[in-house]
This record gives sequence, structure tokens and C-alpha cells, in this order.
Amino acid sequence: MKPEEELKKVAQEVSVCTKCELHFSRKLAVPGEGPVSATIMFIGEGPGFHENEQGRPFVGAAGKFLDELLAQIGMKRQEVFIGNVVKCRPPGNRDPLPQELTACSEYLERQIQAINPRVIVTLGRFSMAHFLPNAKISEVHGQAMKIKGRLIVAMYHPAAALHQQSLRSTIEADFARLPELIAQAEQMPEQIEEAPVEKQEPKQLSFF
Ligand code: URA
Ligand code: SF4
Repeated sequence: MKPEEELKKVAQEVSVCTKCELHFSRKLAVPGEGPVSATIMFIGEGPGFHENEQGRPFVGAAGKFLDELLAQIGMKRQEVFIGNVVKCRPPGNRDPLPQELTACSEYLERQIQAINPRVIVTLGRFSMAHFLPNAKISEVHGQAMKIKGRLIVAMYHPAAALHQQSLRSTIEADFARLPELIAQAEQMPEQIEEAPVEKQEPKQLSFF
């Protein structure tokens, strides 16, 4: 299947998905959006009130701030992919539960496979934990980790940074590094499909 077809298929499946409890309370699922050719993906936590109404990611206050952060580095929303680790709104914007994150991760993985971005920016700790389960955001934010041939960069969630001045300066500084990290990632060799590791026969010990 062509990557753009797979991306559409994921969105279609998500729109009617019943794999976790979040489907009961959602209005519209939010599969995420952006070009299949995007070099960079931004992955947030989950839809909030406005996203659930519109079926689009980051369209509320946090989204407006994300647009500003992108503009500060000369990028537009239309050229990046924006998605979430869970595609349906947790009631009252509560944290997503482990079983919800697990149920939904298949969709995110398929989106990543289809888009094959050079850089993935995680926004907030639930998104970070999908890629870096043991990392602490206060320790790793803004740093690039090379995973499976791409760079994963953890950042604070824009909703948190919006109202806290120290985090706001931090996320702005972390964003400012992105153009350089993208350039760096574009120079990295793409990870080829993992070849099956050939079984190494234990060497015969020779006594002679
Ligand atoms: N916060 C998120 O994590 N994702 C959205 O789509 C909107 C707000
Ligand atoms: Fe399906 Fe994900 Fe929505 Fe749960 S959050 S119902 S797994 S699309």
C-alpha cells in the first residue's frame, strides 16, 4: 500500500475505532493531520475539548501557541504532521490510561511508518514515554536521541508551557534548535528494514 493510502486508512479506522473505552465519550476522533511527505512529526497527548468538537489536532489555545512556536522557526502547520498518542478525548481532559495508550499505539506506529519522518518531537510526558519510557522530561527536553534512524526530541507540552513563564522560555529555546536538528537528521542514513540477524554457530573448540 502507498504511504498516503495507509495514512488515509489509519484515519478511517480511527474514526470508527472501539478498541478502548475512550470511544464511548468522544464526539469526533482526531487521527492527526499533515502531509505524508512531512520531515517532522509533532506528537501531543490527546484531543481536548475543541479537538473533540472539530476532529482536528491542536486547534485550541495550546494549538495557537504551537502555531506561534512553529512561526518563530519559520515553519507552518501545513508542512508538518501533527498528531497525538491517543486519538480520542479523555473525559474532562484526564490523563490517558495505560490500557488506552497501548490500544491506540498501533495507529501512531502505522502513521510513523507511512510518513517516515526524520524528526519526531514529543509534546508532553505521555508522548515522550511512547519512545523513551524511562526518560524524565526535565532531564531530556530539547535533546535529540537517535532511535531507529531518526531523531526523537522530547519537549514540554505547549499547554503547560503557555501559562508558566519559565517553561515557556524553555520550550521556545528547545524549538529554536529544531532547524539545526532537522538539518542534522536529514544527513543521517535512513534505517533500512532490520535484516534478520544470522545465527552465529558457536565456534567449535579445537583441542588440536
Ligand atoms: N493537547 C494535545 O495534547 N493534543 C491536542 O490535539 C490538543 C491539545
Ligand atoms: Fe481507538 Fe485510540 Fe480512540 Fe481508543 S483512543 S477508541 S484505541 S482510536
